[in-house]
Amino acid sequence: MELELRGITKRFPGVVANDDVNLTVRTGEVLALVGENGAGKSTLMNIMYGLYHADEGEIVVDGTPQTFASPGDAIAAGIGMVHQHFMLVPVFTVAENVVLGVEPTGFLGRIERDEAHRQVAEISAQYGLDLDPEALVETLPVGIQQRIEILKVLFRNAEIVVFDEPTAVLTPQEIEEFFNIVDALKAAGKGIVFITHKLKEALRIADRISVLRRGKTVGSADPKEINEVQLAEMMVGRPVQLVVEKEHAEPGPATLSVDDLHVVTPEGRSVLDHISFDVRAGEIVGVAGVQGNGQTELVEALTGLRDPVSGTVTIDGSDITTATPREVHDARIAHIPEDRQRSGLVGAFSVAENMVLTSYASEPFSSGFLMNWSKAREVAAELVEQYDVRTPSIDTPASNLSGGNQQKVIVARELSRELRAVIASQPTRGVDVGSIEYIHAQIVKARDEGVAVLVVSTELDEVMALADRVVVMYRGRIVANLRRDETDHSEVGLFMAGAKEQQPA
Ligand SMILES: Nc1ncnc2c1ncn2[C@@H]1O[C@H](COP(=O)(O)OP(=O)(O)OP(=O)(O)O)[C@@H](O)[C@H]1O
Ligand SMILES: [Mg+2]
Repeated sequence: MELELRGITKRFPGVVANDDVNLTVRTGEVLALVGENGAGKSTLMNIMYGLYHADEGEIVVDGTPQTFASPGDAIAAGIGMVHQHFMLVPVFTVAENVVLGVEPTGFLGRIERDEAHRQVAEISAQYGLDLDPEALVETLPVGIQQRIEILKVLFRNAEIVVFDEPTAVLTPQEIEEFFNIVDALKAAGKGIVFITHKLKEALRIADRISVLRRGKTVGSADPKEINEVQLAEMMVGRPVQLVVEKEHAEPGPATLSVDDLHVVTPEGRSVLDHISFDVRAGEIVGVAGVQGNGQTELVEALTGLRDPVSGTVTIDGSDITTATPREVHDARIAHIPEDRQRSGLVGAFSVAENMVLTSYASEPFSSGFLMNWSKAREVAAELVEQYDVRTPSIDTPASNLSGGNQQKVIVARELSRELRAVIASQPTRGVDVGSIEYIHAQIVKARDEGVAVLVVSTELDEVMALADRVVVMYRGRIVANLRRDETDHSEVGLFMAGAKEQQPA
């Protein structure tokens, strides 16, 4: 099958998201779609999947123009989509989720249920998805949930499968497994469209790479003939610094101190097992670890979202162990949360409102009673400029921004205050290479101004690029605390896998 998008144009208020875009996808190949935040990748794929309607242009399947009034039409034409935010019913089993909406009649009768199980098991085996039809979705990790979404699409006989940033939320191990699945899909003759900001992934997995910039196709590249630096430049339109430039750190006294912190879940599981470490002024401490080893709980405990059973957290000597998020904020600690949808932005508020969301009650935006809106707007406009947030205006609702641009709004807001410490969780998730360069530079700048910075990232490359000191978490404990210049990727990798543990000095 060959699917062609011809001259696709899509306008939103104040912006042309797709501007006369042409793109061809064939079965049996992997096409990577790359481009800056807001370039129009998700929009284009949503048009191909019948979620949005193009203002101009046509979708041509095997030479015949088609109209997709809804995803149902696209699915019928053999197109499937795996969204970044999964749409599964947590209390259903794998098989129930897969057949949802296409089961023969009403709720599954016994015969249909057996048949559904058989088919789910069969597809799972064929593509190496390794799914248990009986498992309850809510108990499964993200990587497995993604495979259910893949199975759903295959169950509906997709020939072309679109993935919108599938690896952004996966651990390195899960990414390897995902690539194996992509290989199996390709071997079975499926076509795959793969959106990513990780250029190494595009170069590794794709047969072809298409680049969008500001709504237009700027070209395509052969992964065998282009390298990461060239691809980055093609995407952004200027040379991009892919390595972090920073001077040697000159840390001062401890700013953020964590002492013997013990956190237990409501179910009684110990998720932070008596953790101690310091982040000094003018130092970046990177937390490395496979996702799910206590990093989320550590950040929650530090930012007032979770109370520990015992232990203390102090900032410049004052105790913030049981402080609320507001008090943590007022202690001049920035928090870049890992889940921007849930805790970073208010989607219905404008970009400007989100920019000042956490400081609206303080100078210079407010003098007690009155909100100084013109000052707030001025600051918001500056931040939009500096962080290159691609938005039609500062009055646009944040929910209309592309994923990466939403992330930039949060980072801009959090890093633009006067700070003592920064706690950044996955600070560049979903952000394009050009903006990663800027965000990393801002983090280093904060460090150079004497701020204590804690960066938590499941991207080991990001931790190693930014950190002056690396702390490795494994099963709720700190198994290593290393100077960056005395360690390397492979040693940290061993600690992350639990294959090695540092002896107390
Ligand atoms: N529902 C919408 N309403 C208004 N504007 C929108 C909507 N969806 C997307 N846009 C705008 O269209 C443009 C393209 O957005 P899109 O989400 O396609 O970008 P993207 O390439 O997927 O970016 P990212 O890498 O950040 O995910 C952006 O300027 C965005 O603000
Ligand atoms: Mg997108």
